[in-house]
Amino acid sequence: MNETGWNFSGKTVLVVGGTSGINFGVACDFARAGANVGVISRSQEKVNNSIERLRDFGTQIAGFSADVRDYPSLEGAINGISNELGKFDVVISGAAGNFPARAAAMSPNGFAAVVNIDLMGTYHALRASYPHLKVPGSSVMNISAPQAFVPMVMQSHVCAAKAGVDMITRTLAMEWGSAGIRVNSIVPGPIQGTEGMKRLAPTPELLDKVTDSVPLKRLGTTSDIGQTALFLASPAANYITGAVIPVDGGWSLSGVSGLMDELARLIESEWFKFGI
Ligand code: NAP
Ligand code: COA
Repeated sequence: MNETGWNFSGKTVLVVGGTSGINFGVACDFARAGANVGVISRSQEKVNNSIERLRDFGTQIAGFSADVRDYPSLEGAINGISNELGKFDVVISGAAGNFPARAAAMSPNGFAAVVNIDLMGTYHALRASYPHLKVPGSSVMNISAPQAFVPMVMQSHVCAAKAGVDMITRTLAMEWGSAGIRVNSIVPGPIQGTEGMKRLAPTPELLDKVTDSVPLKRLGTTSDIGQTALFLASPAANYITGAVIPVDGGWSLSGVSGLMDELARLIESEWFKFGI
């Protein structure tokens, strides 16, 4: 037992897109709980920094650089992590891209960039991890978003991609259930200090509006997501599979779609102000 309240000593966790923000926080929480952790993302510099920081927890750490859109490269990175750390007890797929843009204003390549990272990247990450999952007993988690079920203006690409991610969660829960592999989605709400929030609420005024729209009246923390991931990976969640679990302070219940409309107008007026 440790300060996280969970014991994952001797377990191996892969976090795809695990080098910053929410996913890095989750990787830290697993290492703090005693797990050996592997991380993958595009930037070799971010991978190296993450390895260095994760090693402070005293467990075995591995990291490789790969783009989740490039299946052979991602497969090589996942094989490399399994070679170093062994089979996976937990796989978390969280690489994502986002920028606010109306559908008619972005290029087809802009839409495709997000779909290819979030949706294809999730399929690639799970497909390449499958041979390395411990059976029975492993736990797979996809990091989704409220956009999967709450339509938001300027987010058509993310809404489409994350809805697809949650359907991968549900279908793979069915396909992999008989092997004893559980598959779930975690749906973070607005998490403070993250790249995602900087992109959707780039000014203090917008951030205040978001905070006020959360029923629990605070932004989430990476540890709110980490604690959920630890729970889902633990024996306490043995009978949970195919679930899409909001960890959002009630945000997705609260008329956030209307808020996004207002944010979109404010973001556009900010762009106007800064001449973007
Ligand atoms: P972030 O810090 O930008 O994290 C994204 C991670 O994915 C980074 O490690 C990034 O590293 C990696 N990545 C991005 N594109 C990649 C690619 N093509 N191939 C491989 N790795 C890639 O963002 P965040 O805000 O913490 O978001 C993390 C997750 O939470 C995402 O799935 C997001 O949709 C979800 N989420 C966030 C919020 C929020 O409030 N922030 C709310 C709901 C859901 P590299 O740049 O090195 O590739
Ligand atoms: N508005 C409209 N279109 C945009 C855009 C914006 N703010 N930012 C990028 N695009 C478009 C580009 O113009 C390009 O389309 P084009 O070739 O027709 O011009 C397309 O998206 C791809 O952009 P590019 O910069 O080449 O892609 P990339 O693969 O290097 O980066 C992104 C992918 C665009 C998603 C980038 O924002 C990213 O790497 N994000 C990761 C971090 C992140 O978003 N974190 C938050 C997660 S919630």
